[in-house]
Amino acid sequence: MQELHFSQQVLSWYQKNGRHNLPWQIDKTPYKVWLSEVMLQQTTVTTVIPYFIRFIAYFPDISHVAQASLDEVLYLWSGLGYYARARNLHKAAKIIFEEHTGTFPQTFIEIIKLPGIGRSTAGAILSLALGKHFPILDVNVKRVLSRFYGVVDSPNKREVEKRLWCISEAVTPVNNVGEFNQAIMDIGSFLCTSFSPKCTICPLRIDCHVRKCNIVELLPVKPVRKKIPRRTIWLLLIQRGEEIWLNKRPPCGLWGGLFSFPEYNTEAELRLALDRHALLNENYTHYMEVIQHTFSHFHLEMMPIRLCLPTFCVKINYGAGCWYNLFKPPMIGIPAPIDFLLKKVRLLKNHMCSIDNIKMDETL
Ligand code: ADE
Repeated sequence: MQELHFSQQVLSWYQKNGRHNLPWQIDKTPYKVWLSEVMLQQTTVTTVIPYFIRFIAYFPDISHVAQASLDEVLYLWSGLGYYARARNLHKAAKIIFEEHTGTFPQTFIEIIKLPGIGRSTAGAILSLALGKHFPILDVNVKRVLSRFYGVVDSPNKREVEKRLWCISEAVTPVNNVGEFNQAIMDIGSFLCTSFSPKCTICPLRIDCHVRKCNIVELLPVKPVRKKIPRRTIWLLLIQRGEEIWLNKRPPCGLWGGLFSFPEYNTEAELRLALDRHALLNENYTHYMEVIQHTFSHFHLEMMPIRLCLPTFCVKINYGAGCWYNLFKPPMIGIPAPIDFLLKKVRLLKNHMCSIDNIKMDETL
């Protein structure tokens, strides 16, 4: 009975207050819901909206994604971070194209097998796009349910997560399941926020365990934050007229499959690489401003050094990568801090290196 009451409260709040016009809610398809759910993992709705619109304009359906190169997919994902999501999306699109004739599978068993799709994302696709009776349990839903039912423990522990899944199954109604799942996510992101939750206007306030016990702020239990390490790297920006050299990174791992500048652990290593090819000329190497970027598990400090070569010096080639035209950029994935440096370089004057110093037929 309490579960029925819970879903009724949530649904009637949603009619008046929920989100009904997000881009992935218009002309809804499993493809759009899938794409939005993947983009929304670790990312806010406001950040996702322009990426989603651009992606759909470029790839209107799954077959377009499947037939595109990974570079194109990563190009459209550039700046969103967590690039494994894009690599998995591309892999999954190819599987759907080859094994399901391009139609998004409609059963839980088939969907959960696709790379990058877990139980909650599969549930969201089936319920939001197809109205099928499946529960979800993303971070917002975990917070709402653990507060309402007083699950006072870290939601990331296996047994706690299991319990929350059981609760989610129990409260998810058979009818209006799509609206309910969207509604509970909206309650989590608008009202039942981690900090300063808006309990006074929450439709669930009367029976909410932590509110009744006046312990709202105790949940969710925050994981102990470890101090994350700092890493420093030196980046080499070799420019040739309007072009600049970018390396293609290995297919997996950090910035996997994206393009970035050649990197070195120390400035001495960078200078040694230049010296080996008689490219080292103090007058033509320029320090640029240091940039910082924080990943989930470490801080990265990047020390860029720029060198300009004569435009006709075409033979220098630095392994897997490309000469990136600053003014006619190709469709490849560029991480946000590298894109920031490219924008800066576009505005700089080209201080060209004297050709006497350059060996022409070398591979750097
Ligand atoms: N976060 C994850 N999925 C979402 C959705 N469908 N709407 C809003 N926020 C979300």
